[in-house]
Amino acid sequence: MPSSTVTALILFSLSVTTLIEATQLHWPLDLSNTIWDGRISSWMDLEDFDSPTLSPYNETHVHGYRSWSDYLRLPTNAKRSLFDYEHGTVPLEVTVDDTSLFLSGGENLQYGFRRSELNPVSNNGTDDHFVEGKRAIHFSVRSDDKRPLDFTHEYQNVFLETNAYDAHQFTLKTGTPYDNSTSINSSAVTATQTLRIESGTNDGAVEKTLFETEYNGGTWHNFAVELDFDANTLAAYYSKDYANLELVVPATANNNSGGGLYHFGIIKLPASGTGNGSVPFSGYQPSNIEEIKVIGLGKELTGILLQGQIYGGIFIEDTSERALKTGVWTSGYVF
Ligand SMILES: *[C@@H]1O[C@H](CO)[C@@H](O)[C@H](O)[C@H]1NC(C)=O
Ligand SMILES: *[C@@H]1O[C@H](CO)[C@@H](O)[C@H](O)[C@H]1NC(C)=O
Ligand SMILES: *[C@@H]1O[C@H](CO)[C@@H](O)[C@H](O)[C@H]1NC(C)=O
Ligand SMILES: *[C@@H]1O[C@H](CO)[C@@H](O)[C@H](O)[C@H]1NC(C)=O
Ligand SMILES: *[C@@H]1O[C@H](CO)[C@@H](O)[C@H](O)[C@H]1NC(C)=O
Ligand SMILES: *[C@@H]1O[C@H](CO)[C@@H](O)[C@H](O)[C@H]1NC(C)=O
Repeated sequence: MPSSTVTALILFSLSVTTLIEATQLHWPLDLSNTIWDGRISSWMDLEDFDSPTLSPYNETHVHGYRSWSDYLRLPTNAKRSLFDYEHGTVPLEVTVDDTSLFLSGGENLQYGFRRSELNPVSNNGTDDHFVEGKRAIHFSVRSDDKRPLDFTHEYQNVFLETNAYDAHQFTLKTGTPYDNSTSINSSAVTATQTLRIESGTNDGAVEKTLFETEYNGGTWHNFAVELDFDANTLAAYYSKDYANLELVVPATANNNSGGGLYHFGIIKLPASGTGNGSVPFSGYQPSNIEEIKVIGLGKELTGILLQGQIYGGIFIEDTSERALKTGVWTSGYVF
């Protein structure tokens, strides 16, 4: 793109911003604080997620052998989330099926997991930009009645994983915590339907549940996890639907070292008690969780055990200089 076009575009967007401010729409976003934006424009098609230039997420990772467009959905029946509402962006659903086997390092097929996780496109594991100063990771999740998760399994949904792949700095989880004991009767495991923020596991630290809330259907659950990479602390904010965020985990010691990649989506762990100690490569996973029929050029989805989770408003802001914005997301609007 010639630089004159770029300048024209910048001037155009500035004048749009000014116009919006002038019409008192309470534009909620301080774009200067946003270091990466994973919110989904309403013009995006599923095929755009297979493109290295159109998707805000890495187009090849982390999923099974099919393409992102096969593992994602653009739900039309879910209301926009808190962080999407005034921004005009839309929800995105991440699903897993029988083919969601990740080929780790190009050679080891992870039979124990079902994985579909979105990574920010420019986040390569060593880029300081994502993991320095203070960063607040915003996201909302909600369940899909038509593609319920099996809450007897553990799911890891949002996390930062070190560049060495040896620890998470934090993890959002749902389902029953995975238990590797071989004396567990996996058929007797009861379902745990909560959302949990777990602390980091750097340097062999034992994961602790820092915040837990019931995972109700039909509700957006909004989070901001704030990592201070200098002070090595984690704070978390939470709200439901369109309420302002509230501090639920005051800054608490957490080893945030190791750089790494952010993940948003689903890792489904095997049934508790069925593994041999090597979690990614062993253990029982129910099959037939989704059937795909190819009809003509389109795809028709059938099956009874579809599994997915809907995401909204994913973005990362720099809160080094200014406090995280907890309110005014929807001021001036009546729902
Ligand atoms: C996507 O992720 C893979 C694996 O980390 C990496 O090799 C590739 O360069 C990434 N693509 C982009 C566009 O960043
Ligand atoms: C990762 O991104 C940083 C910052 O853009 C760049 O300096 C570095 O070379 C990249 N590393 C890889 C392995 O691509
Ligand atoms: C395991 O649990 C199931 C369901 O409660 C039960 O039917 C079965 O008898 C149990 N198996 C053993 C070996 O205890
Ligand atoms: C944090 O974890 C890293 C990597 O495991 C370790 O080298 C470092 O000593 C830990 N820092 C603290 C303060 O515990
Ligand atoms: C279960 O996990 C613990 C802690 O990582 C490990 O020490 C133990 O060997 C594992 N046991 C089995 C049966 O996998
Ligand atoms: C567990 O089983 C998998 C799959 O058969 C195998 O690749 C792996 O080496 C086993 N791990 C252990 C610790 O026995």
